[in-house]
Amino acid sequence: MFEMESLGLRAVGSHCSLSEMDDLDLNRALLDRPRLKIERKRSFDERSMSELSRHDSPRGRSVLDTPLSSARNSFEPHPMMAEAWEALRRSMVFFRGLPVGTLAAVDNTTDEVLNYDQVFVRDFVPSALAFLMNGESDIVKHFLLKTLQLQDSEKRVDRFKLGKGVMPASFKVSHDPIRETDHLVADFGETAIGRVAPVDSGFWWIILLRAYTKSTGDLTLSETPECQKGMKLILSLCLAEGFDTFPTLLCADGCSMIDRRMGVYGYPIEIQALFYMALRCALSMLKPDGDGRECIEKITKRLHALSFHMRNYFWLDYQQLNDIYRYKTEEYSHTAVNKFNVMPDSIPDWVFDFMPLRGGYFVGNVGPAHMDFRWFALGNCVSIMSSLATPDQSMAIMDLLEHRWDELVGEMPLKICYPCLEGHEWRIVTGCDPKNTRWSYHNGGSWPVLLWQLTAACIKTGRPQIARRAVDLIESRLHRDCWPEYYDGKLGRYVGKQARKYQTWSIAGYLVAKMLLEDPSHIGMISLEEDKLMKPVIKRSASWPQL
Ligand code: GLC
Repeated sequence: MFEMESLGLRAVGSHCSLSEMDDLDLNRALLDRPRLKIERKRSFDERSMSELSRHDSPRGRSVLDTPLSSARNSFEPHPMMAEAWEALRRSMVFFRGLPVGTLAAVDNTTDEVLNYDQVFVRDFVPSALAFLMNGESDIVKHFLLKTLQLQDSEKRVDRFKLGKGVMPASFKVSHDPIRETDHLVADFGETAIGRVAPVDSGFWWIILLRAYTKSTGDLTLSETPECQKGMKLILSLCLAEGFDTFPTLLCADGCSMIDRRMGVYGYPIEIQALFYMALRCALSMLKPDGDGRECIEKITKRLHALSFHMRNYFWLDYQQLNDIYRYKTEEYSHTAVNKFNVMPDSIPDWVFDFMPLRGGYFVGNVGPAHMDFRWFALGNCVSIMSSLATPDQSMAIMDLLEHRWDELVGEMPLKICYPCLEGHEWRIVTGCDPKNTRWSYHNGGSWPVLLWQLTAACIKTGRPQIARRAVDLIESRLHRDCWPEYYDGKLGRYVGKQARKYQTWSIAGYLVAKMLLEDPSHIGMISLEEDKLMKPVIKRSASWPQL
């Protein structure tokens, strides 16, 4: 029998019922692995899992540190691992002698630095996970504290003051050689392209705080009044009452990983999935005292409404597509089936061919008379990691990935979105963005960083063989191409037109994927099990069994 401690997973705190449930469910999921129909021989995972049950972790963190575990399992680490670690360490940024983050890229092949010499919050997440999985938690702690201090500073765009809870998109350590001091300069969107605040930063911050807590067992950080306040400030931006009629979060274009105009304004899946995950992470860490209790109540209600909305209205599979295709429009009253008045004529042709009979995904966006049918990698993977997707939906997302491997993975994992925008549509939607031409960058480009999220989703659904296939592709090229930021082309065959080399999150994403495959118990840091209280309400198609 696996014990929680022997799995290296700790409950985040005694006050948090959800996190305890996570662990129990994770235990069960791991024990129930055969039930997940894993088609493979006795694998790597099983070996490391059973080994894991025999080792007791004195510190409660994962017992198999990367270098050690590779040796212990007699798996020769791929030579790329050592190079990746070196490159990751070269990207480390120090503030008054303490490590506080990693640069977005350390590309010595070009003088054009742009803003890649900064520590981006979203880019640091895979670095942080790699460090945590390797037992190096200091840099993560310092990063969390430094960004928290930055949140406290006054943020303005011209004469407009931004909300208190906004977290920076990035920051830079600038060194004054005369006074011999360091100081931090942050960007909250006021210097970013398009002047958009990063909605994802705050969510990633909360997710990372939980990962740190879960990995180290150190409750003292998340329980500090500063961290509790930081979380509440982030959440108060999203939980405030307004004119909303939906529980999803209304966003401007370019407010997340896709930080340029790409027609993802409205209710983009990436933000909704991160929002859901951050709410659940916060719920497991917030103390129920003072305004904490009120915040917890708000979160619980929002989670309930959000999961209902997403699972019902964002979900698309063969059956649902057929239903939308036959939708009536202009329906008034509560009995409306086509609640958002989506016009069947707005369904793009490609989706009819793309949709397999088995499989499904969360579409890119749903709003009034608006359904963006594009598939987005990050949102779908985070939906699996956070259990926003039900177990059946998670399986269906993986089925689709397998079925549409050439389109979504191709020769370089993983397409940021599918398909690309071209011609007139590209002109209108991107505003003629020359960096986002078809099958490039955010417009259907392939981003190696997404490998870690794909791997996490694979492990969560008990399908590590899919991740291994993707890792093999990465290992055949990434290092030879000097760890590019992204690849171009329908199959992701070409190094991106303007891609940075030695892009840190491409490097860290690879390390995280490898360490997750090697020791699947690491998944507890970045995954939440199904909340049994939030049952899906409607069920459709074969990939989502009938009630
Ligand atoms: C680009 C990406 C963004 C990333 C940044 C730094 O702007 O679109 O997601 O955070 O580069 O790597």
